[in-house]
Amino acid sequence: MSDAFLGSRLIYARAGLDESMLLESPFDMLRKWLDDATDESVKEPTAMVISTATKEGKPSARVVLMRGLDERGLTFYTNYESRKGQELVENPWASATFWWALLERQIRIEGPVERVSKEESDAYFATRRPDSQHASAASPQSQVVASREALVALTQAVADQYPDAMPRPEHWGGYRLIPTGFEFWQGRPARLHDRLIYEKTEDGWKTSRLAS
Ligand SMILES: Cc1cc2nc3c(=O)[nH]c(=O)nc-3n(C[C@H](O)[C@H](O)[C@H](O)COP(=O)(O)O)c2cc1C
Repeated sequence: MSDAFLGSRLIYARAGLDESMLLESPFDMLRKWLDDATDESVKEPTAMVISTATKEGKPSARVVLMRGLDERGLTFYTNYESRKGQELVENPWASATFWWALLERQIRIEGPVERVSKEESDAYFATRRPDSQHASAASPQSQVVASREALVALTQAVADQYPDAMPRPEHWGGYRLIPTGFEFWQGRPARLHDRLIYEKTEDGWKTSRLAS
């Protein structure tokens, strides 16, 4: 097996990020970078790594899709009984990380997480295709299953019960990560990357530069 990938030495030279480019609201800044990623046809620009931890601080991370963004925070949907759901019961803090290789940009966001309202989850669930509704209702996410066939059979049983759309099951819904901090990272040559952060304070968002 070749280890050629271990020798990767990309030079990031596409753009810089200086203080004059920061928007007042970090949410607007996130929207701007998401727009840039969308304009560049990045596949799944809203994919973000959500990291959670147990109450002992043991971390775990996985990719989810951001489904909502406003001044309250970033919303994603999942199974409340999944591993991430259980960890968020024990420890309601998480981080979100976006990485768009094409743009040589990373964003890190941290903060507490809360469930969105039932009405918000209902409204989002209703927009999903029936086959996605059936699978998310039937699948015991993060549990061991005997086989793929067993999972398909569970989903089929729900599909038989609800041939079309179905109501949202209680165990599935949204979370909102309420940011207390953001970091916007732009790759630069010679490892001198740009890192600008926003920290939430009583007087609003405070910005600073971090060493790379
Ligand atoms: C691009 C991508 C998007 C995903 N979006 C979601 C999502 O929105 N919600 C979700 O529950 N899982 C999503 N997943 C699956 C998760 O990565 C993960 O397998 C699942 O949520 C179980 O994680 P857990 O066992 O840590 O709770 C996505 C995976 C990928 C690769």
